[in-house]
Amino acid sequence: MPLDRLTPVLERDVARLEEAGTAKGAEHVVVGVRRGEGDRGPRFRLEGEADREFIRMNSNSYLGLGLRPEVMEAEEEGTRRYGAGPGAVRFISGTYDVHVELEERLAAFHGREAAMIFSSAYATIVSTIVPLVTNETVLVSDELNHNCIINAMKLARPAGKAIYGHNDVSELEARLDEWAGKAKRALVVTDGIFSMRGDHAPLDEIAAVCRRFDDRFEENVVLLVDDSHGVGAFGETGRGVEEYVGVPDGGVDVLVGTLGKAFGVNGGYVVSNAALVRFLRESSPMYIYSNPITPGEAQAAKAAVDFVDSEGGRRALAHLRALTRRFEEGLGRIGIETIPGEHPVVPLMIRDTVRTRAMVRHLFDHGVLVTGLTYPVVPKGDEEIRTQINADHTEADVDRVLEILDAFDG
Ligand SMILES: Cc1ncc(COP(=O)(O)O)c(C=O)c1O
Repeated sequence: MPLDRLTPVLERDVARLEEAGTAKGAEHVVVGVRRGEGDRGPRFRLEGEADREFIRMNSNSYLGLGLRPEVMEAEEEGTRRYGAGPGAVRFISGTYDVHVELEERLAAFHGREAAMIFSSAYATIVSTIVPLVTNETVLVSDELNHNCIINAMKLARPAGKAIYGHNDVSELEARLDEWAGKAKRALVVTDGIFSMRGDHAPLDEIAAVCRRFDDRFEENVVLLVDDSHGVGAFGETGRGVEEYVGVPDGGVDVLVGTLGKAFGVNGGYVVSNAALVRFLRESSPMYIYSNPITPGEAQAAKAAVDFVDSEGGRRALAHLRALTRRFEEGLGRIGIETIPGEHPVVPLMIRDTVRTRAMVRHLFDHGVLVTGLTYPVVPKGDEEIRTQINADHTEADVDRVLEILDAFDG
């Protein structure tokens, strides 16, 4: 029988994850979306839950752009014009004018010379870090960086790797000091927003340290920031953490973002100077050997960037900040600890596995979708429920969730 010896090994591996509490388990399947109306934001129906409708407090679509008519119409229009898929990788015959226009739009949005899109931010990170790392490069990384950075570091072949404590700028400084004179190039990598907690990297201080050490590395200290949760959602005009903390021009050398969170579509991108992007077009495996996003997605993403970069976008960002503040203040009133901040990721610090699971269940039973993070996914004592505010939630939605939380007596 095929796979008769492998199958039980794989089943045992999954059973082990289930026992350890780290298995992702069965997925909720969305079978219907009702658009927002009046003081009610969008509602989601799930398979097996009959006509029950849920408020989705665990979506990365921070501005609700995936459901905005002009974004959906742009996707339809792009699809009608060019078909459902690109049909080839970029350098063969898969480059459409909408891909090029989107890249120009993203470069302009972030004030950089050039941009390059990929099928996801995950692919962007792997395909940007690996080519930029030589065997004379030291890779320096925050200990809480996203899984895509961790895996990119596993694939890269640097002279050495150095991990610094979360947002610990003096430890970053010490790591660069250790490697100065030993590696030609340093690549410092950090998330902009750390998605489990909604906190952000002190990019102004990190950029200053990188500049201070720059002369001591023959091929520079390069600062690469993955701000997938920040772009479109954070900073006065949605430029992300570098705008929020005020990093001077040239402070972040390579910026990675996603089109699949605040921009509401799908795909990833990198912006930087023209030479670096030109180098990546010749060396990034997931750019050269993997399809780009569809023409429809590219057109939708361009419409989303145009929206963020408009008066309407600034109003949506202000509304998002106001809703986030309202939710955090409400949590304070009902006595639930959080990590305060402007980013719409609002972690409820429950600090107990049983209580976290019970609260997630209570919210689900009352029509609210959230994400529980328990030990061993997070350290013991840091168990939390991650909630995410979206601009298409309403004040009434936020108040309703607070009411449901207040009624929990676990
Ligand atoms: C920091 C960071 N980078 C990359 C990604 C992946 O984004 P995408 O879905 O576009 O691959 C995520 C998604 O959770 C993220 O948090």
